[in-house]
Amino acid sequence: MLSSRGGPDAGAGDTCLVRACFGKPVPHTPVWFMRQAGRSLPEYRAARGSGSILSAISDAPLAAELTLQPVRRYGVDAAILFSDIVVPLHAVDFGVEVEAGRGPVVAQPFRSEDDLDRLRPFVPEADAPYVAEAARLVAAELAESGVALIGFAGAPFTVASYMVEGGPSRTFAHVKRLMHSAPELWDRLMARLADMAVASVRAQVLAGAQAFQLFDSWAGALSPAEYERFALPATRSVLSQLADLGVPSILFGVGTGELLALMGSAGPDVVGVDWRVPLDEARRRVGPRHSLQGNLDPALCLAPWPVVEEATRTVLSAASASASASDPASNSASNSAPSEGGGHVFNLGHGVLPETDPGILRAVADLVHEETART
Ligand code: CP3
Repeated sequence: MLSSRGGPDAGAGDTCLVRACFGKPVPHTPVWFMRQAGRSLPEYRAARGSGSILSAISDAPLAAELTLQPVRRYGVDAAILFSDIVVPLHAVDFGVEVEAGRGPVVAQPFRSEDDLDRLRPFVPEADAPYVAEAARLVAAELAESGVALIGFAGAPFTVASYMVEGGPSRTFAHVKRLMHSAPELWDRLMARLADMAVASVRAQVLAGAQAFQLFDSWAGALSPAEYERFALPATRSVLSQLADLGVPSILFGVGTGELLALMGSAGPDVVGVDWRVPLDEARRRVGPRHSLQGNLDPALCLAPWPVVEEATRTVLSAASASASASDPASNSASNSAPSEGGGHVFNLGHGVLPETDPGILRAVADLVHEETART
């Protein structure tokens, strides 16, 4: 059993993380780290063994254990379910594997209309029951602890980028060729991937996840006009189809400084910000209606503690400058987010690097809690 971190009132669904996402008052700024479970933790390397990550994910008790390890190690306010954005694609037999050190690779990339036939609907209970099972195990373990469980899915654009490119890409040349030369096919692909993300997140939330994040990690490859035409509509559709769940949503991407306002317009409660844009500037771009998540540079966490400490304080002060700039009295923007806006969830600007000293991340989490504790 984990010690309580949300205070006596933090029952399921009213954790510090959830409150901050909705812009409600919190006892301290909640903190978690993207990719907090993983190779930077010796206990992860020990428990995970050498098999494929997709087989570790399909072992629900193991996935639950890997989800909980960083909660114990770092004292963070949220666990993120140990899974991957390509799990639904893998589960419908599209032919994706995850190569260690490289990432997802697709044997037969998506290039034409015929490839839509290979993409059957994802039915979580039948195709990947282990995901909900892992979520139930984690949620039971976290009950009463005040630590939230975050579910997630890949946003349609980012999942499509792996499908179309066949693997990680620097130029996104095949994706851009497809979207610009066959926009109707692209839209049909995006609609299918939106359905997949909706089904996946819904199953995780029904199994106990209290918030969810859409990873649009590679959206920063798009210009604002491309994002608006080719990525935003499907992401907006995912968020609106999940709105009835009543749990907060976080939309995150890397290199998205020029896209932050558009990402806010997709309707998430929280906009995730990478390390390139200070949070007070991100606030100006996103407007007052959303909470922000971020944004310590993960590479900076490899520096000595005094450097990391200073950088953590800089993030916190940009966040508090951004909170005063989002005084609800000055609200004029309109969108569908139900939240009050203005909250901050501390995170890195992207995932934990495998070389990171776990002691540094523990110290970051402690510092965020101490510095933001409210009486
Ligand atoms: O704590 C956590 O966040 C764990 C859960 C998690 C994983 N993948 C497990 C994983 C999450 C949230 C993801 C999301 C994910 N997967 C994203 C979005 C986040 C981001 O980094 O932008 C993306 C783009 C993927 C696709 C993917 N899967 C990549 C790029 C890689 C890295 C390849 C490598 O080996 O460096 C993976 C593999 C992967 N997924 C690992 C983990 C812990 C590392 C490989 C392993 O331990 O075998």
